[in-house]
Amino acid sequence: MLEYFERNTSRLQIGGMDFEEMIRQYKTPLYVYDSEIIRTKFQRLREAMPPHIQIFYAVKSNPNLAIIRMLAELGCGFDVASIGELTAIKKLAIDGSRVVFTGPGKSDDEISMAIQLGIYSFNCESENEIIRINSAAKKANKKIKIGLRVNTDYAIQETVKMIGGTQAKKFGMDENQVFAVIDRMKELEHVEIIGIHVFNAAQVLDYRELAANTKNILRLAKDIMEQKGLSLEYIDIGGGLGIPYAENEKELDVTALGNEFRNLHKKMPSLNKVHWIVEPGRYLSGECGVLLTNVVDVKTSRGVRFVITDAGINNFLRPALIQQNHPVLVANKFDRNPVNIYRVEGPLCTSLDCLGTDVNLPYIEAGDTIAFFNAGAYGFSESMPYFLSHPIPAEVMVKSGKAVLIRRRIEPHEYIEHCII
Ligand SMILES: Cc1ncc(COP(=O)(O)O)c(C=O)c1O
Repeated sequence: MLEYFERNTSRLQIGGMDFEEMIRQYKTPLYVYDSEIIRTKFQRLREAMPPHIQIFYAVKSNPNLAIIRMLAELGCGFDVASIGELTAIKKLAIDGSRVVFTGPGKSDDEISMAIQLGIYSFNCESENEIIRINSAAKKANKKIKIGLRVNTDYAIQETVKMIGGTQAKKFGMDENQVFAVIDRMKELEHVEIIGIHVFNAAQVLDYRELAANTKNILRLAKDIMEQKGLSLEYIDIGGGLGIPYAENEKELDVTALGNEFRNLHKKMPSLNKVHWIVEPGRYLSGECGVLLTNVVDVKTSRGVRFVITDAGINNFLRPALIQQNHPVLVANKFDRNPVNIYRVEGPLCTSLDCLGTDVNLPYIEAGDTIAFFNAGAYGFSESMPYFLSHPIPAEVMVKSGKAVLIRRRIEPHEYIEHCII
């Protein structure tokens, strides 16, 4: 855990910069991303994966334009899930051929924007969605490539429920429905089925589980090709590459995973011409990010020591939503040993506003700065910024020893002006 941060210093350094300079300039709460960590993670994965696999970053994990642009420059493709994410792709002038669009409930506006951008493929979540894409393609006088998202009968057991395994769910079509869907969709003239997509477990740290799941996806692809006479172009094996959040968790061994993928590819010659897409979110963007928040108050209630910070679930919902602690350290007492167990909570008027339970920390006083690690993925983007009308934190990227503002802080008076009296 925390393999990318120097632990033997008294103060937290991010990308070689002292945290305090950044919070002085940009205030707290503050999200800081170390660009070198993103680069390292992408390159490590790229080197580990065989050439038939393309990496498409799941934008939802952190949609900041600076991160998307950096990954685009490194040669990454993108998995988008909304009109906002399509807008980011458009703004950065990323070629549509490097984009797939996955996610339930695609609106008509989203479908037509994706068609305009010329994305590579839509990963379709239902039969109705395919029919709607076909109609939009007809209007645009185009033939559109699609993949079928499948809710497979086999899935990895998630340690914390995020995507949800094999149960009833809104994602994709059940494995036992998909063959009949293909028959019915053959009549549609403006869509062409060229792929399948399966994503059934997030935060997987064991490469053997990911490999076993992929083997099952390949088996399904082969059955579809043989039984339905389809020639697939791609197999999208989803995201789910985990990162260590707890002390006892280890990095996912992507080199071993790459070797498993190479073997699977060799063993299935009938799929030789089909390329694979992997869509990691947190693996690429998670570990680069630190949320810095100042301690406003410290108190004890019924024997529990509380640390009250200026960030709450309005800025960082994930620990409460998923009920999973992130690594927590004190930025200004970085090398001090823990002495107490604390509960870290934000300033919101709800007891759901908990950022960390049973956290071992050194002695905490008001004015200390708490650092939440692995906050780059599903941190800023998975929060509820308007709840209780606090400022919306800035995002900063450290690059070549400089902290660069990549999204400015928004003060409440700015969004209060959006209300109409
Ligand atoms: C369709 C899809 N692909 C990829 C991802 C990325 O998942 P992870 O960040 O666990 O890799 C998600 C996350 O929810 C997703 O919904």
